[in-house]
Amino acid sequence: MEQVQWITDFGVAEEILRHKGFREVTFKGLVPLVGPVIVTLEGPVHRERRLIGSKLFTALRLKTAETSFVAEITRREVAEASRQSQPDLVRLSYSVMAQTAGRMVGLDGLGSPENAAEAVYLLSALVSGTQARQEGKPVYTRRAARDELRKRFIDPAIARRRNLLNLYGAGRLSVGELPSDLITLLLLHTHQAERKWDTRQIAGEVAFYAVAAIDTTASLAPHLFHHLYHYCQANPVQENRLTDPRFLRNAAAEALRLHPAIPTIFRQATTSLKLKSGLEFAENQTAGIYVKEANRDASIFGPYPEEFRPDRIIQAKTRRAGLSFGGGSHLCLGRELAVGTPELAQTSFENDDSPNETELFGVAAMLVKELFAQGARPDPGQAVPELSPFARDVYHTYPLNFQQFD
Ligand code: HEM
Repeated sequence: MEQVQWITDFGVAEEILRHKGFREVTFKGLVPLVGPVIVTLEGPVHRERRLIGSKLFTALRLKTAETSFVAEITRREVAEASRQSQPDLVRLSYSVMAQTAGRMVGLDGLGSPENAAEAVYLLSALVSGTQARQEGKPVYTRRAARDELRKRFIDPAIARRRNLLNLYGAGRLSVGELPSDLITLLLLHTHQAERKWDTRQIAGEVAFYAVAAIDTTASLAPHLFHHLYHYCQANPVQENRLTDPRFLRNAAAEALRLHPAIPTIFRQATTSLKLKSGLEFAENQTAGIYVKEANRDASIFGPYPEEFRPDRIIQAKTRRAGLSFGGGSHLCLGRELAVGTPELAQTSFENDDSPNETELFGVAAMLVKELFAQGARPDPGQAVPELSPFARDVYHTYPLNFQQFD
């Protein structure tokens, strides 16, 4: 990429993310495939889109999700993995997250592990095309993956909800009988909007949410499990805290700080500008934020910032996960679903009246809690592969072993 100024300093990165003189460009490659979606929009149109999206992440909806289907999915999937001859945490984590995101977004049929795996494969092909090639699986271009995703999962889900809304409009269903998901929210919005959205627009927004939710959260769980396992090996007194959801929630944010699922965030200057640090940007120049480096700033995160220390004391007004959820107007909307509510009185639940009364723990911590409760350990017979310092910071496999309790 031409003219990129790379940023590793936490303060500078935060200022850029919040600065009105920059536009989001990390996801601009998705626009030809799915059209303009929440993350690629700016200004009033973005605010309007964000208002619709934030209705999905109210305290009430998220608490209901955590205590009902997220708890149910994690329990069922971990129990299923414990019966397998070669359980794998990466596969398990993707399955849990695809099913969870499927429920939030409104993609029907992801409750079956086969469909969940198929949707995950198509979503990863939508992001990276044929690089997502897997043995025995068809090869897709990004466009073909998008079309297949729509045909298999998105368009039928939209059609079903359009029908339900028609029944609601005709007084044959109550509002409480409508699904509680993104597609329904988008359809309700477009019903009232002056300019109606077509199915293609809704499908684009839905595909982006699925992309944003699944790969990110699913890739966190193996890191969290790995760090916690080794942390307790080195500090056996900590082992009884593996049942404490607050400890696990802090640990999830700490693991995400060290392994940001979106490692580089890009912004483009809309005008020539100078930052507080004196750093200058020409109009159209791109800032490339190295999230992993910025998240290891000792002045913010304290001593040994490269180490996993779930009890570390961080500076007030800083997120435990650092800049892993971005910042400013595009701050991740799914952060509480992924890693729970921040323990400090920080802003959450943008669309709520009583934000601070609801405590959430997040899918990653819930999954890992269930794994430890069921005796999951890294499989001593199959080494966990070392992460390459050059490749993307994710596990591709993580063999597990379930210890039997007497
Ligand atoms: C560990 C899990 C996650 C990580 C690390 C993560 C990371 C991010 C980051 C870095 C951004 C900002 C991108 C930018 O500024 O360029 C973002 C935006 C977004 N994320 Fe997440 N995300 C996670 C989970 C989720 C989940 C579970 C959902 C939905 C269910 C979600 C939905 C979104 C949406 C809708 C946006 C766009 C917000 C906007 O543009 O206003 N994310 N995410």
